[in-house]
Amino acid sequence: MKDSVSSSDIKKFDNICKERQEAINSAYIDDVKFDYPLNNLARVMHPLSIDVFVSDIKKETMDAKTFSLKCKDKSMPLFKAGSYIVLDFKLNGMVYKRCYSISSSPKNLDHYDITIKRVRDGIVSNHMLNDVNVGDSFTIHGPFGNFNYSSLRDKENVLALVCGSGITPIMAMARAISDKLEDFSLTILYGEAKKKDLIFKDELDLLAKKCDKIDVHYILSDENLDGYDYGLISKEMIMGYELGKYSYFVSGPVHFYHYLNDVFKELDVPNKDIRHDIYKESELELHHILHSLTVISGEEKKVVDCYEDEPLLKAMENGGIDSPSICMVGVCGFCRSKLVSGKVKADTNYLLASDMKYHYIHPCVSYPLSDVTIVLSK
Ligand code: FES
Repeated sequence: MKDSVSSSDIKKFDNICKERQEAINSAYIDDVKFDYPLNNLARVMHPLSIDVFVSDIKKETMDAKTFSLKCKDKSMPLFKAGSYIVLDFKLNGMVYKRCYSISSSPKNLDHYDITIKRVRDGIVSNHMLNDVNVGDSFTIHGPFGNFNYSSLRDKENVLALVCGSGITPIMAMARAISDKLEDFSLTILYGEAKKKDLIFKDELDLLAKKCDKIDVHYILSDENLDGYDYGLISKEMIMGYELGKYSYFVSGPVHFYHYLNDVFKELDVPNKDIRHDIYKESELELHHILHSLTVISGEEKKVVDCYEDEPLLKAMENGGIDSPSICMVGVCGFCRSKLVSGKVKADTNYLLASDMKYHYIHPCVSYPLSDVTIVLSK
């Protein structure tokens, strides 16, 4: 139907404008208050950053440790199982930031546990596992993320498809179910190379034994042992759980997401039933090609190397440029910068239309396709 605007509509609109103008003119404008109790409470409960220290370290496997992080004088902010924090990490005068899922239950806000597995050539994971001791201090941000169970959106049965250290947010969910903070049935298919690499195995077995809402199966790719499935998490294994009855929570490295996305397509699983732990690189096909990144901040200009398969923010980090950032996954907007020249491949999920129109990007999820120049926002 064609819209038509009559003269009486225009008159009405004119009057609305006048009424609005009068309302604006008569508004109370003295002493605008910014310290509303609710805002103050929110700032206290969810501060931008929290200073913590390592209160305990537990060796989980040869290559994984759990670090308990505590705040000196207060409890940690509330969080939902599946959330992550960002850890600021100072090494040789440079600040690195890394996202880690909280593996502890949301019931005990005395501390957060993060469980870190060694990444080959990973600066931060190797330093955490080799050099960090009880008593060492860090700054963290968060908790963030939407890899959480929601009874409104998700089915009451969840099939968690896990590879390697992807078990950490799922472990928080299992603990939360056991602590009666979450109410859904969780079946975990947990893939690893060998039995000795399985993190939390004893506790997972215990939780599955005492809680009928938790079930766990282990799939080993490099060992054929009694009581364990052998190979990789497969289409056939997923089909063993009635299609249409489950929400699928996927947690693991990029190749695992790619592989399962293909499986879900073959099985016609609707996207609304699939949840991924945030990991933005999973969507992009990139190559290890060297480019240069010029970063302008006020009067300063610095040029650093940047590979096509690493986000601009990581290149800045490696080049010693301290750029504003918090979440590292394109959500918070703290790293928002103007792209002055060059081409990037970027995750645009969280960019405003106006940002895209005026060439603003989030360097934490933007990858160079040529030499690139950006201006950091102040
Ligand atoms: S650090 Fe949060 S959007 Fe880039």
